[in-house]
Amino acid sequence: MLRTHTCGELRLEHVGQRVTLCGWVDSYRDHSGILFVDLRDRYGKTQVVFDPQSGEETQKLARTLRAEYVVAVTGTVVRRPEGTANPALATGQIELRAECLKILNKSTPPPFYPTGKEVPSEDIRLRYRYIDLRRPAMQRTLLLRHRMIKIMRDYFDELGFIEVETPMLGRSTPEGARDYLVPSRIQHGCFYALPQSPQLYKQILMVAGYDRYVQVARCFRDEDLRADRQPEFTQLDLEMSFVEAEDVMGVIDGLMARLAKELLGLELSLPLPRMSYDEAMERFGHDAPDLRFGMELVDLTDLAKECEFRVFREAALQAGRVRAINAPGAAARYSRKNLDDLTKLVVENFGAKGLAWFKVEADGSLSSPIAKNFSPELLGRIRERLSANPGDLILVVADTFEITCKALAALRKRFGAELQLYDPGAFHFSWIVEFPMFAYDAEEGGWTAMHHPFTSPRPQDLPYLSTDPGRCRAQAYDLVINGYEAGGGTIRIHDPQLQQQVFHILGIDEQKARDRFGFLLEALQSGAPPHGGIALGIDRLVMLFGGLDNIRDCIAFPKTQRATDLMTGAPSPVDSKQLEELGIVIRSPKNRSIRDG
Ligand code: AMO
Ligand code: AMP
Repeated sequence: MLRTHTCGELRLEHVGQRVTLCGWVDSYRDHSGILFVDLRDRYGKTQVVFDPQSGEETQKLARTLRAEYVVAVTGTVVRRPEGTANPALATGQIELRAECLKILNKSTPPPFYPTGKEVPSEDIRLRYRYIDLRRPAMQRTLLLRHRMIKIMRDYFDELGFIEVETPMLGRSTPEGARDYLVPSRIQHGCFYALPQSPQLYKQILMVAGYDRYVQVARCFRDEDLRADRQPEFTQLDLEMSFVEAEDVMGVIDGLMARLAKELLGLELSLPLPRMSYDEAMERFGHDAPDLRFGMELVDLTDLAKECEFRVFREAALQAGRVRAINAPGAAARYSRKNLDDLTKLVVENFGAKGLAWFKVEADGSLSSPIAKNFSPELLGRIRERLSANPGDLILVVADTFEITCKALAALRKRFGAELQLYDPGAFHFSWIVEFPMFAYDAEEGGWTAMHHPFTSPRPQDLPYLSTDPGRCRAQAYDLVINGYEAGGGTIRIHDPQLQQQVFHILGIDEQKARDRFGFLLEALQSGAPPHGGIALGIDRLVMLFGGLDNIRDCIAFPKTQRATDLMTGAPSPVDSKQLEELGIVIRSPKNRSIRDG
């Protein structure tokens, strides 16, 4: 070892010892002939002092130090002089009197300082990720990630799960995103798909009798990226045999309790609360509601039938819905202009036709540009229905159920944060269950799988498969934390006939099913146990547990919104020779850009 201790280790008990530290020059200050250098590594910082006692040579060398040089310093640990201790630093009681300095490597002036007050733009951070990863905040997050995965592996090991690796080069599985394809050199025109998840392999492992499988699995999905989505992400993936939905949820309940306790110091009370999909959509307009605060959606459809406002009446009379939220105390805070902006938001993003609002005045009356269309008595009933008080702001959307859900859920989320209706450090874990099996795709004109095509319907809903697939509920469960979908899973179909029937509803005909999933259908006929599982998004869990707001900060080397790696320049063009070997001709390289921008 080139060092005896780390830069975060030395305390008063080490005073008098001769030690060697290695690290990066975090800062240097020259105070009338005495040079103070903060030496940094991932364990912390230690102040090193070069004074005349260090010797002329050493002092002279020390004066050449610059930010981010890598050095080894040998010296004696001393107590800091009275009044100069730094309580903000774990090593703040001591300093190192340097006797010998070795520059292990120099550094060009860094594009930014890892412990500087200002964090540069994300493009710069991603371009110089090796500097960015020196930032203590990044190091804390990657450490949290490491500890989380370690706890997960220990937990599942204790429960008898075994980790099995599944292939990266495989056949495409339908998780609903676009595949990343890898061309075959041996069979021109054929492609592997990088896994969107290990879904089919883990089901095959159940057929093969492994009973309890777990994997920290890398997944790839070519989809539109957002703050909580990366093209390449990591799942804690598991599958169990001879179980029902409650058994899988119970295992994850236990895991969440352990993670919350060990990483957050929180005691969760188990079982975690469960709410049906229908209830979540009715009360919160979203299948991953943030339950840290109330502000529930309230139905006004019956009242709307009695008013003179055409838009409301028509929605109410034509099987649409009129729904509202009450933003407590927000009336004064939101100007006409703010309300116009909110209207624009719901119109442009969610296809709403407008946003109506009422402000509750001091005398309890409701004021609004559309108030004249309502009798005072009706306004009173609206206010009562929303339990609104003077100073509150009521927002109403009249539309299809789906659009009222989307628009009001977005407004609820926004008001919740802006009005600080919850403690941002609080946690709420819950399960959303009984999802619909299918969603109707109006554009394509057919049913799509709400989770994936291997999901089992609830036994009591089997008759709907042939009569009314939209009514069929799945044995599906999503883990929701603070308004994020942290995980999702289902009990699978283990009966090949039922699997065929579901494929059929999804418009996958027998030939196509055999071509794509023949191996699964065959496996289901070879002694398949009842089974089910779940996958948790590890990047999202780290984001939530770390109190962060995007998953790029939870991944050492993430991609940008345009799916590029700004450090290495991936994706990049390749040699024509490589393309030739793969039998690939590029028709129009017009979208090519190595860096974003
Ligand atoms: P699902 O598609 O719901 O289920 O994915 C499970 C969890 O993975 C996380 N996740 C993502 N995280 C970051 N970036 C992404 N692009 C991304 N996509 C998904 C989410 C999500 O809840 N095979 C099934 C699981 C099963 O049925 O057992 C599956 O992959 O946190
Ligand atoms: P208008 O009659 O179109 O001028 O609309 C009057 C007010 O009602 C405006 O504030 C609109 O944003 C709002 N509004 C219009 N359509 C809807 C709707 N479908 N739901 C809620 N508010 C609406």
